[in-house]
Amino acid sequence: MTEKKKRVLSCIQPTGDMHFGNYFGAVKNWVDLQKEYDCTYGVVDYHAMTMPYDVKKLRNNTWELLFNLLAVGIDVNNLFVQSLVPEHAELGWIFNNFASMGRVENMTQYKDKSTSENIKDKFISVGLFDYPVLQAADILIYKADFVPVGKDQSQHLELTREIANRFNNQVGKEYFVLPDTLFTETPNIRSTADPTRKMSKSAGEKHYINVFGDEDRIRKQIRSAVTDTGEKTGDEMSPGLVGLFTLLKAGGNMQAHSTLMEHYNADVLKYVDLKDAVAETLIALSKTFKENKSAIIADKKNIKLQIKQSSEEIRKIAQSTLREVKELVGLLNVKF
Ligand code: TRP
Repeated sequence: MTEKKKRVLSCIQPTGDMHFGNYFGAVKNWVDLQKEYDCTYGVVDYHAMTMPYDVKKLRNNTWELLFNLLAVGIDVNNLFVQSLVPEHAELGWIFNNFASMGRVENMTQYKDKSTSENIKDKFISVGLFDYPVLQAADILIYKADFVPVGKDQSQHLELTREIANRFNNQVGKEYFVLPDTLFTETPNIRSTADPTRKMSKSAGEKHYINVFGDEDRIRKQIRSAVTDTGEKTGDEMSPGLVGLFTLLKAGGNMQAHSTLMEHYNADVLKYVDLKDAVAETLIALSKTFKENKSAIIADKKNIKLQIKQSSEEIRKIAQSTLREVKELVGLLNVKF
């Protein structure tokens, strides 16, 4: 008998461009996991409403991210859109009653976001506070065994397990699987404009390199990468050089990596050689992805339909869980 594959679940927020930090740090791993696991990946548009956002952009960002995920190698059958599976929100409501106020109040992501520059003088919504409870619903509704996420999400995963545990205790049954975080070795991609910080969109345009960006812009961004931060780092490699070598390795150009590392060790490394190698590596990757994306865009109508259909398929699992949950907690159920 072949053993049933373990289920992997992860989600990503639609926030515009996909950068190499997103790709090497998370999405590439998602692509690889598809070989070994039964994978389900969501684009979480309900979550994207929790910070001040532009209602005219959300739907476009959602489609754009879906196309980008397909272009880098996610199988359409593994993809769903959160708002096309509204059971997530319903289970989230039920979970509100199994989540401890004190624990949710302690989430560092909430504390960071509610005090960040992006939200300054704006509006802090109940949705932002409740975000991790909806995340618990995303995970538990599919009874996921593993959730590949970065370290910044481990607190949310812990809360998910607590909710599952409390639920199981209350209904007197080991109903929910307690999911494990799947920590895989993923490279730490830095901003090339300021290698002391993570590559990210929130810091501004120069702090991220768009995977689907224009070739010249990628080259320019790498050419102008900061290599020395001015601080003395002693014998250690400067953060800027570490960042460039990391990109080279993440991009799979091991030959250039080892040659240039030898140059560095022999104190003869020309920064321009390193930068050119990084730029060409990223451009080559980007070229393939852009070709895939053009094909997707050319067949947009059909691809959108496929995504809706796959969301409908995945929704069946969510509906079945929700039916059982409503039964267990004493709510009324209608047959459908
Ligand atoms: N909070 C996650 C992040 O910021 C996104 C997310 C939402 C998620 N729901 C999820 C990740 C469920 C894993 C599983 O990256």
